[in-house]
Amino acid sequence: MFKSLVFVCLALLAISAVGAEQAAASPSPPAATPAAAPAGAMTPVQRVNATPKGQLKNPYKDDDAAAVEAGRKAYFRAGCNGCHGGNGGGGMCPPLTNDTWVYGGDDDTLFRLVSLGSDELQSKGYTRKGHENVVGPMPPMGAIVATDDDLWHILAFVRSNYHGAPECKFGCPPPPAEPSNP
Ligand code: HEC
Repeated sequence: MFKSLVFVCLALLAISAVGAEQAAASPSPPAATPAAAPAGAMTPVQRVNATPKGQLKNPYKDDDAAAVEAGRKAYFRAGCNGCHGGNGGGGMCPPLTNDTWVYGGDDDTLFRLVSLGSDELQSKGYTRKGHENVVGPMPPMGAIVATDDDLWHILAFVRSNYHGAPECKFGCPPPPAEPSNP
């Protein structure tokens, strides 16, 4: 199991190396090429590294039943339930369903937290803003969840179980409106 994961990772690395060479040869800005790679073509960590802070956005809505069901399966496959409970309501670890967001409740922050883990997130300048019943490190799951697409499904599933104040679903206080929609 582990060996095959390593193999997949190596294969993905090889693919991304080819992509990087092509990007270097093309006249367009190099950062644009990896970020534009279709969902599912990268590991979560590659997606984090290819995307400027604040720009990760879930393509799946939590009222999309098929996406939520795929996310539920991937959540169990990755073992998130062992710590956060089967519906994300908490267990040994903080609930994912309330309006207390440890580092922020926006898509970008959650994707980075789950991919990198809390220690690496903190090393990038993020601090705990909210405190849950359990305060401990969140392990890096970016090597366990196979692709960025799987992680977006998982986060759609997590959002579908949200029970907190509606205005705090994506962060409390709510994040500012997107600059692209003035
Ligand atoms: C070994 C236990 C463990 C596993 C496995 C785990 N987590 Fe966590 N998670 C934590 C802990 C502990 C925290 C709190 C981090 C902190 O306080 O810095 C956390 C925090 C979070 C948060 C932020 C919660 C908030 O209220 O802001 C999310 C979202 C999250 N985890 C999602 C996931 C997902 C998705 C998976 C599976 C891919 C997962 N976790 C697997 C322990 C775990």
